[in-house]
Amino acid sequence: MLAWTRVHECPLNILGVRCDVQLRGSKQDDGAPWMTLTRLRVERPIGTRAIAMWVGRLFVVRDAEDFEVEACVALARLAAPEVSRTSWRKALGGDIENPERKLVVAEAEAGVVGYGRARLFEPGSDAPRDTAPRGYYLMGLFVRPDLRRAGVGAALTETRLRWISEGAEEAWFFANAHNSASIALHRGFGFEEVTRQFSFPGLAFEGGEGILFRLGLRSVVSVL
Ligand SMILES: CC(C)(COP(=O)(O)OP(=O)(O)OC[C@H]1O[C@@H](n2cnc3c(N)ncnc32)[C@H](O)[C@@H]1OP(=O)(O)O)[C@@H](O)C(=O)NCCC(=O)NCCS
Repeated sequence: MLAWTRVHECPLNILGVRCDVQLRGSKQDDGAPWMTLTRLRVERPIGTRAIAMWVGRLFVVRDAEDFEVEACVALARLAAPEVSRTSWRKALGGDIENPERKLVVAEAEAGVVGYGRARLFEPGSDAPRDTAPRGYYLMGLFVRPDLRRAGVGAALTETRLRWISEGAEEAWFFANAHNSASIALHRGFGFEEVTRQFSFPGLAFEGGEGILFRLGLRSVVSVL
């Protein structure tokens, strides 16, 4: 006998492939809960072994909602505890409100497990000559340490690149030269180094130099 049953449908990202999933949650009258994967429709072919490996690590990437800013602030504070909660709240909340900015989150059973930011950057008229060029930038990316190497960072990046590709033909990103994880992730999308001689308002690369990267989106948009 079933005490209750509930069907839930949601989009998912498995190894960069968009999928529509239907889950049927039910509870037996002895109290045991069941979650059955009843449908998995994939955008393009994906190996069943890959799905089997990833199905236990499902997460959804989507635009952040206002009520998720606090969860993002908590993650951001893991990355930069020296920045106050108030400053992070203002910055991340502003990403949701401003149409030239984007805040996306990765949500798993554990809640918000990562976030990614993107924005249009326009140098001021009095900006130094070496200022990074106008354009859409991938700005901040953070994944909960215990859930890394599960494709969350790549999925957050893919979603932001899709958004940028709606309004621009190139995307920019910068990283500390020591951040090999971030550089490897972005190179995987095709980002190429442009220069190490640049500045960006409010940015300092402690203990290393910054690298500015560019990605032409025309060539990659068909595979995003
Ligand atoms: C960088 C970061 C966002 C990566 O997130 P993630 O969810 O672990 O990344 P993914 O699992 O999507 O990795 C995608 C690819 O990136 C590369 N990559 C990710 N982490 C890596 C690492 N530690 N070392 C080398 N390559 C790495 C790999 O190519 C990986 O593909 P693979 O796992 O098939 O080899 C995460 O390490 C993080 O939050 N770091 C701290 C914050 C930070 O540095 N943000 C970037 C600022 S520019």
